[in-house]
Amino acid sequence: KTIYVLNGPNLNLLGQREPDIYGRETLSDIEASCRQLCDAESVDLVFRQSNSEGDLVDWIQQARTEAAGIVINPAAYTHTSIAILDALSACEMPVIEVHLSNIHKREAFRHHSHVSSRADAVIAGCGAQGYEFALLRIFELISS
Ligand code: DQA
Repeated sequence: KTIYVLNGPNLNLLGQREPDIYGRETLSDIEASCRQLCDAESVDLVFRQSNSEGDLVDWIQQARTEAAGIVINPAAYTHTSIAILDALSACEMPVIEVHLSNIHKREAFRHHSHVSSRADAVIAGCGAQGYEFALLRIFELISS
């Protein structure tokens, strides 16, 4: 089984970018901890980041036929992208939305997520650990 962990714009700057909000861990650190969890579960991990909406749509379409589950932090596209929502809606496997920060505690324009209407679960405000929680939940959902 394969799980896709997809990351949207500016998440390549994690660690340097507004560390008070997003933490000091880099995206490579997050990838390493995701890989450790997936290895232990004998699940294959596809871990990707792009600053382009189209790349994320293409990868979700790939996941549609290749993955057993998707973890996605769409970053700013969370609040704007119907294309990402539509791509996820075309997928039948579990989808978990992750945000490092608690978007509900922040500016009003971050309170609405287009993706949440498709997500099976939403994790916000747990920092990098949110990705681990999402994977553990996906393991649970794909084992039954
Ligand atoms: C984010 C929250 C978004 O509002 C923001 O645009 C991001 C990151 C988070 O992980 O907290 O880039 O998705």
